[in-house]
Amino acid sequence: MDRRGNFLHIAIDGPAGAGKSTVAKEVAKRLGISYLDTGAMYRVVAYKALRDGIPLEDEELITTLAENIEISFEHGEKEAVYCNGEDVTEAIRDAEVSRAVSLVASYPGVRKRLVKLQRQAATKGSFVVDGRDIGTHVLPEAKVKIFLTASVEERAKRRYLENLQSGKKTTLEEVTADIESRDRLDSQREYAPLKVAKDAIIIDTTGLTIEEVTAKIVEIAREA
Ligand code: DC
Repeated sequence: MDRRGNFLHIAIDGPAGAGKSTVAKEVAKRLGISYLDTGAMYRVVAYKALRDGIPLEDEELITTLAENIEISFEHGEKEAVYCNGEDVTEAIRDAEVSRAVSLVASYPGVRKRLVKLQRQAATKGSFVVDGRDIGTHVLPEAKVKIFLTASVEERAKRRYLENLQSGKKTTLEEVTADIESRDRLDSQREYAPLKVAKDAIIIDTTGLTIEEVTAKIVEIAREA
């Protein structure tokens, strides 16, 4: 909380693979505040649509799904995401969900519903919030706004190594193609696209370690 008793909100936006979630989690831990993963919320909607056999192109049905879905998070020792009470933490990281999520996230009705939930969550405490439109749209009043980026090659390499570690079989070419396609979809969609907020601090993480990026953001937050 700041001197006026307001909650501290740190928005971390940027493209896929820039290191947002790893860094956001660590920054939250060091500042003793909570972390909200908004990408996970879009992933939950995509996951549920795939599981229920709802055609991804059917904007109306997908929007109705988003309006009726219950998404909750567990923080602390166990980090988990729930969809209508079901633990979907692993399932939402599936390659199939990653391919489906940008389309689902381009629907204005889906975004309106999830943004409402994100703003509600933010009224309850101090948060590091990561996503694509946090500083520009969800929390334009956030005290600290960071835009994390890195070259496509570096981001693809990181995702590829992550997949390898968690036992997911992908090739570097596949991961690069996925990242390029998501960059295109996320920045070209009409409603709340990925863009840098006017007052955001841009950090290019190419060649920087997680520790270096985390320390930089913690320092910015402490001085804000
Ligand atoms: O950060 P991520 O890869 O888990 O995000 C999943 C998808 O959700 C990504 O394609 C962009 C979209 N997204 C969004 O449109 N707005 C957000 N605030 C967060 C994610």
